[in-house]
Amino acid sequence: MLRALLVLLALGFVLIGRVNSHQESGEWSCESGSEIRLESEFRPGLVTLDGHADDWEDIFSSEFPLLPALDPDDDKEYKAGKMTVKTVHDGRDVFFLLQVDGEYKYSKGENNNCPSVALMFQVGEDATYHDMGGCKEEPDSCTNKTCKGHEVDIMHFSIGNAIPGRLYGGNPIDNRDGNGGDRFGHLVDVYAWNPHCRHLDGIGPTGNDSSAQNDWKGAWWHSSFDGHSGFVEQDSPYASGNPKGTYYFEFSRPLRTTDRLQQDTQFTIGGTSKMAVAFWYPVDGKPWHGSGHYSINCDWVTVDISSDSSMLSRSSVSNSGSTASVFALLLSVVSLCASVFVGYRVLKPKGVPFTPMENL
Ligand SMILES: *[C@@H]1O[C@H](CO)[C@@H](O)[C@H](O)[C@H]1NC(C)=O
Ligand SMILES: *[C@@H]1O[C@H](CO)[C@@H](O)[C@H](O)[C@H]1NC(C)=O
Repeated sequence: MLRALLVLLALGFVLIGRVNSHQESGEWSCESGSEIRLESEFRPGLVTLDGHADDWEDIFSSEFPLLPALDPDDDKEYKAGKMTVKTVHDGRDVFFLLQVDGEYKYSKGENNNCPSVALMFQVGEDATYHDMGGCKEEPDSCTNKTCKGHEVDIMHFSIGNAIPGRLYGGNPIDNRDGNGGDRFGHLVDVYAWNPHCRHLDGIGPTGNDSSAQNDWKGAWWHSSFDGHSGFVEQDSPYASGNPKGTYYFEFSRPLRTTDRLQQDTQFTIGGTSKMAVAFWYPVDGKPWHGSGHYSINCDWVTVDISSDSSMLSRSSVSNSGSTASVFALLLSVVSLCASVFVGYRVLKPKGVPFTPMENL
């Protein structure tokens, strides 16, 4: 009963999350029905970062229609399906799974002819979802002073050179250079003040700072692939044709990073963060362009970095919890009996003569 109630509650959660949005006569408007929330549960030791979603099965999921980010009109929704977003954390790293149906599209080496995803987070308090932070400065005048407070943190994964199931993102070579780049798979750590003032972490218009790092890691997969791991480039793992299936994108980042430049969001256990998810897809065989992406919402989505494992998983925990406590009670009764017996044996006089220390 309790479980059914929780499921209903969770469904209500998703349904309330429907958004009405429209861009009218060039003016930006976003009417988000109510605040949309994601919960990142504490689930240590659950997720392996390999692009596969099996380990996420019993994690609460939220589904979002994908509407064009610059013109969130219901008529222009991504047709092949909704995007499922899941998140957990293990006390050290936070994990995200993005799952979206789509015909398999892949042109090796051509990022814009492959699907692509990005996560964006609010860093500065004034950073808006719309216009990527919303700083009003032009590209030649935005600096960390003129745009202070508008910082957003972005992770962008372009898979044109990324072998499915392999890990990309932060690596020793790019991190030694002190920036957010990824020369192997293009899973980059970026910050921005607006769409025209976007830089790799550590690279800035007024100078570079070699203390930066790419703190993200991630992998991708498509359900049409055979086999489960161990692809190398020579295997040509990339399926032939354009079978229908599901794309998976899986990411992790430490909750806290060593950023000193306001270029990374910092997650707090028990706290909230504001995030957005973008998806690019080569619709009708045409390569995508930077601003032609879909978004899960026309405003920030709130993520709770929860300090316990809650929602649906909590009910299963409490069930096994009652079994455990009965067992614990039984065990303590047995040990009480044992200790009474041991105590009796110890206290029972045995007639051993007392030997003073000095005689030993
Ligand atoms: C900062 O780094 C970028 C990329 O490596 C480089 O093009 C630029 O010249 C550097 N700027 C300064 C001021 O060193
Ligand atoms: C802006 O960035 C430059 C170059 O990294 C740095 O020297 C400076 O301290 C930064 N200023 C602020 C206000 O963060």
